[in-house]
Amino acid sequence: MFFLTTVLLCVSALLPHAARAIPAKNHPTPVNLRIEGANDTIFEGTVVTMGHNITTASGGTNHCDGTNDGANEFPGPTCTSALADAAVANRFQWDATLFTEFDDYFIISIGDTTETATQFWGLLLNFRFTPVGGCQQEVKENDDILWAFDAFNAQHFLKLDGPTKAKEGVLATFVVTDGMTGESIEGATVDGKTTGVDGTVVITFRARGKHGLKATLEGSIRSNEVNVKVY
Ligand SMILES: *[C@@H]1O[C@H](CO)[C@@H](O)[C@H](O)[C@H]1NC(C)=O
Ligand SMILES: *[C@@H]1O[C@H](CO)[C@@H](O)[C@H](O)[C@H]1NC(C)=O
Repeated sequence: MFFLTTVLLCVSALLPHAARAIPAKNHPTPVNLRIEGANDTIFEGTVVTMGHNITTASGGTNHCDGTNDGANEFPGPTCTSALADAAVANRFQWDATLFTEFDDYFIISIGDTTETATQFWGLLLNFRFTPVGGCQQEVKENDDILWAFDAFNAQHFLKLDGPTKAKEGVLATFVVTDGMTGESIEGATVDGKTTGVDGTVVITFRARGKHGLKATLEGSIRSNEVNVKVY
């Protein structure tokens, strides 16, 4: 053990400082992207992304690799590179203006949902509002990126949890919480049923196959989808 530690220390001491400081993080990275529009989910799934230049109709071309406005020292995948890459792969439209003073884009529209005078697109990373714009906010593997319309007026950001397998005709329990605060959400709708005070709802699947469930509640951002395989 002592020998091994000594060898490792010697090896690392031999490396030039710069070589150790540069993390190779701008490589294709799988992240979970969800885009909740005004009335529907525009996209939900895994996207493999890395930092690169992007182009929008209203904003033109700019880099989008986390070094925007000096937010990060090294380029990497970002929230907006994930949006741009999902749009190309899945053929939905989006547009954004470029705010040169922030060296970042401001979203105007995604899919069928365009900002209004009072309702804007918001960005959350792992259920927290990002402190910076989407080309400045770098992401890691398996991060949850959420672009949500009217996010700044939302009461809750719904999160749905439950089994991904269920037996036909047997009760299955799902729970709705606020992904930001963890509190149980009463009165949300899942598959036509309403959650109780503890946020749970009990569903009996009557047909085999795949069922995609989401929770909704007026004034709140709809949840992630739980895919249930009923056997
Ligand atoms: C990427 O965008 C920057 C502006 O942010 C520009 O200077 C550069 O030429 C672009 N690079 C490519 C390869 O298009
Ligand atoms: C969403 O639904 C409302 C009410 O039906 C409608 O007024 C609005 O235009 C819809 N928004 C989009 C983007 O489809």
